[in-house]
Amino acid sequence: MPDTEPTLPRRDLTHTPRKIIIFGATSGIAEATARIWAREGASLFLVARNSDRLAAVAADLKVRGAALVDTAVANLDNVEEHPVLCARAVEALNGLDVAYLAVGILGDQPTAEQDTNHALQILHTNYTVPVSLLTWLANFMVKQGHGTLAVLSSVAGERGRKSNYVYGSSKAGLTAFLGGLRNRVDREGVHVLTVKPGPVKTSMTAGMKGSEKFADPDKVAAEIAKAVDKRTDTLYTPVIWAPIMAIIRAVPERIFKGLNL
Ligand SMILES: NC(=O)c1ccc[n+]([C@@H]2O[C@H](COP(=O)([O-])OP(=O)(O)OC[C@H]3O[C@@H](n4cnc5c(N)ncnc54)[C@H](OP(=O)(O)O)[C@@H]3O)[C@@H](O)[C@H]2O)c1
Repeated sequence: MPDTEPTLPRRDLTHTPRKIIIFGATSGIAEATARIWAREGASLFLVARNSDRLAAVAADLKVRGAALVDTAVANLDNVEEHPVLCARAVEALNGLDVAYLAVGILGDQPTAEQDTNHALQILHTNYTVPVSLLTWLANFMVKQGHGTLAVLSSVAGERGRKSNYVYGSSKAGLTAFLGGLRNRVDREGVHVLTVKPGPVKTSMTAGMKGSEKFADPDKVAAEIAKAVDKRTDTLYTPVIWAPIMAIIRAVPERIFKGLNL
């Protein structure tokens, strides 16, 4: 007889209708991902601050096949409301398999260079808000022994550039937080997916120079849904951004600081 306890197999949720909370559910990338999960018959709890947009997204997801769609209107900047909001979502779904965080703002880099409040607002929404949500969600998932935390960070967090370093630093912090969280909860059966999209065609990038060449949100969403199923740690999407960022990270700082990026 072996003297070790048998290890329980991890729950395979790949083909089971899942219970999913989406924070920032009116995001272009999140909406495209939710459409995939709705087609699979998932139960969805959607959180966003624009009630009209949220109602439209919820109605669309119901038509596409979601088993259940519930919603909460919330300004997620109000971090003190997060515990009640998360508990309400878990109760409505009668459980939780995946939490997907898409909340974020690009902000305005020139304004952030002059106005500290604007710089701090970018850091708050993109870093403090996810940290607050993820702390509650990770503890809940550790307790139940399974779950996936899928979070939209960005390639912008890999290296500070003058054109968007305040936004980039918020995503760098988020990526580091996710790495540490994964290191803590992986052994507890909880999966942490860090998503690093390159530029994607959504309302965040509308009107930017070259935006017509940005990635399609449906393509990015398909890669994210697959990464959730495969329990990937870090996803560059579209995948071309993995080698691009490897090159960008390798440029020596004495050269990088002189580039017009
Ligand atoms: N698009 C890109 O090129 C790109 C690239 C890399 C990473 N990302 C990241 O991907 C995520 C999704 O972005 P997206 O491209 O889909 O852009 P988006 O459509 O502008 O989505 C951002 C979402 O965050 C929500 N949000 C912002 N502040 C909020 C708050 N205080 N409370 C509640 N909701 C709030 C927005 O709601 P409102 O509509 O009410 O403002 C919106 O639904 C973001 O974290 C972004 O940083 C995007």
